[in-house]
Amino acid sequence: MSAFAWSHNEFYHRLLLRQLPEHCRRVLDVGCGSGAFAAELARHAEHVDAIDRSPDMIDGALRSVPGNVSCILGDVRDWELPDDGYDAIVSVTALHHVPLEETLPTLARALRPGGVLAAVVLPRKDLREWPFELVAMLGQRILAGLFFVLRTLGRGSWFAAGDDPAMPMVLDPPLTTREARDAAAALLPGAQVRRLVYWRYFLVWHKPMDGPSELSVYETGEGNKETAELSGDERVHRQPDR
Ligand SMILES: C[S@@+](CC[C@H](N)C(=O)[O-])C[C@H]1O[C@@H](n2cnc3c(N)ncnc32)[C@H](O)[C@@H]1O
Repeated sequence: MSAFAWSHNEFYHRLLLRQLPEHCRRVLDVGCGSGAFAAELARHAEHVDAIDRSPDMIDGALRSVPGNVSCILGDVRDWELPDDGYDAIVSVTALHHVPLEETLPTLARALRPGGVLAAVVLPRKDLREWPFELVAMLGQRILAGLFFVLRTLGRGSWFAAGDDPAMPMVLDPPLTTREARDAAAALLPGAQVRRLVYWRYFLVWHKPMDGPSELSVYETGEGNKETAELSGDERVHRQPDR
C-alpha cells in the first residue's frame, strides 16, 4: 500500500455520523466489513448491530468492535430485522452489492418512524459526471499529500488506507448515480441521492413520522425470512443453514 493512499470510505464516515438522530438507541450497519465504522457508531449509539455476509469480515469485526456492538453473520436481505427497530440504518460502500429494489424496502421496514437511512454507495461510471471525476482526480492527489504530511508529523491517522485485502469488492457497480436516484425515489418517496466527489454517491431517507399508511410501499412480496439464532458466542448471530 502506497504511503500516499487514503481511505475514501473512511473519509465519508463523518458525513454518515452527521445524519444520526440526536438520541440513538439502536443502529444497524449494513455490510460492516471488519467493523471500523461500527466501532465509531458505538460511540454515538447505545447499541449497534453490524451485519456482513462474509465470515472473514465478521471475524475481523469481532476483534475490533466494543461490547455494545453485535456482529451478525448473514445476508441483510434474508435476516429477520425487527420492524421499526432502528433509529438509524447506515452503510458504507455495501449497497451496490445488492439490488436496491429488494433491499431498500427491507431496510425501510426496519426503521422506526422518524428514523434515518443513510448510505455511501459506489456508482457505476457515468460520463455525464465528468466534472466530479475531474475534481476527484485533482483533489485526491492534493489530499493524499496533505494527509501524508499530517500523518508524518504524527497528527493522527488521517484516513490512512488500511483496507483488508480480503474485503469483498464489487468493482463494477450496477447503477449510475442517476439510476440509483430514480430507483430510490420510486421505492422510498422523499429519498435523496447525490453524487459525492470521491467516487461515491450518498443516499438519505427519513421515514415519515406518521407511519406509512402506504406500508405496502415497503413490501417486497417475499415471505421467507430466516429466523435469527444465537450461536455459542453470544455476540455473533448466525444465519441458520439453508
Ligand atoms: C466494500 S465492503 C465495505 C465494508 C465496510 N463497510 C467498510 O467500509 O470497510 C462491502 C461489504 O458488504 C458486504 N455485503 C455485501 N452484500 C451483503 C449482503 N447482502 N448482506 C450483508 N453484507 C453484505 C460484503 O461482505 C463486504 O464486507
